[in-house]
Amino acid sequence: ADGTKAEITQKRLARIDLFADVEPEALSTLCGLFTSRLVPEKTAIFKKGDAADRFCIIADGMVEVLPYAEGETRFKRMLLDTGDFFGELALLDDVPRSATVLTRTPTLLLELRRDHFHTMMDVSPALRERIKRAARGRRDEASGH
Ligand code: CMP
Repeated sequence: ADGTKAEITQKRLARIDLFADVEPEALSTLCGLFTSRLVPEKTAIFKKGDAADRFCIIADGMVEVLPYAEGETRFKRMLLDTGDFFGELALLDDVPRSATVLTRTPTLLLELRRDHFHTMMDVSPALRERIKRAARGRRDEASGH
């Protein structure tokens, strides 16, 4: 991958934890919706406050989540790596991005457009619950609970 979008296979999706127990029919629907993209290191995937257009899974690499605005000096930051996902909060809540996400290494992303994210949530209840549970924890952390 050289930054151009490429289709991904069902086998590839099945290797990602998030999809561990997703039904094969649902997986086959999903693999047609994702595209992959290689992002160089130290690159902003999106910034806090941006409008949300997609959901991302880290197929290979590491990103840093910075919940504060540019110029703020809080030290809180989270690292996400291979198999983790991000970008669900703004899509679920229909609000701007809650954090800036930067690549720490060259990172291969699997991406879903906004409308396809909602398709994914409809296709597998188990997957929907898993994503919503993660979102709840992240929101609580953001509000200091
Ligand atoms: P979103 O708000 O769309 O964009 C920024 C993303 O950073 C957010 O979705 C989450 O996926 C992720 N994020 C926010 N807070 C946390 C957290 N506490 N831990 C891990 N990831 C987070």
